[in-house]
Amino acid sequence: MTMATTLAPEDVARWRRDWETMMRHYQPGRDDLLAAGLTAAEEVPGNPPERVLDVGGGPGTTAEAVLRRWPEARVTVLDIDPALLALADNAPLRIRTVRADLGSARWLAPAGGPYDLVMALMTLHYLPAGRVRDWYAEARRLLRPGGLLLVADAMPVAPVAAERPDSGTDPWTAWWTALAREPAMARLLEERTAALSGLSSAEFAAPVGWHRAAARRAGFTDPTVRWERAGHALMVCRR
Ligand SMILES: C[S@@+](CC[C@H](N)C(=O)[O-])C[C@H]1O[C@@H](n2cnc3c(N)ncnc32)[C@H](O)[C@@H]1O
Repeated sequence: MTMATTLAPEDVARWRRDWETMMRHYQPGRDDLLAAGLTAAEEVPGNPPERVLDVGGGPGTTAEAVLRRWPEARVTVLDIDPALLALADNAPLRIRTVRADLGSARWLAPAGGPYDLVMALMTLHYLPAGRVRDWYAEARRLLRPGGLLLVADAMPVAPVAAERPDSGTDPWTAWWTALAREPAMARLLEERTAALSGLSSAEFAAPVGWHRAAARRAGFTDPTVRWERAGHALMVCRR
């Protein structure tokens, strides 16, 4: 699926760059985490992945990192958000984008597969606990035998503390507010409002042990934590 926008290429590049800056605020050590994940995706199976699925891949900045590392990979970015997918589609990247909702198992059909690598970075916390549990089994179905799943998200070691007092606009809101001022994005943002109507992030956060148990229950035999910092972790599961 390709979604058009009249944004100039340099503006697409700027919004995607700003997205990464914004995401680094929420995911401490994001670059190191991704590097650790991509290294695992090559080391664990013993060769680089050919087919990669980025679940909740947003504007395709992770897909870009994947292609920088493995230029021959066939990368699919799946997301519910038409505005973010348009930024991915209009970047100079050789990717396939798919619009689908992880709210039920119906996302599996458009996702396609089988994949050598399925990844979900900062995506699962949008789903409620029961959906995250089922999602592990669904993601496993998309992997070829021996394929790898990477999950990175907030996985707090202790119960999440009460919210800190607000010290101004958060970077997420600031990014979306600024994007809303782009006339070229108006139609896509209307489409986004319709697509996301009635949906909100579950803000789900569970410790690493919970995710390991969910992955084992889904049939992964050796879910391993490859990286951990400040209540965030990267888990690697082999099918
Ligand atoms: C915090 S962003 C992370 C994006 C990207 N993985 C990254 O690290 O830059 C969460 C992503 O999950 C997507 N998402 C949230 N709920 C979803 C759902 N129900 N179905 C599909 N995608 C969803 C959002 O649209 C967004 O792109």
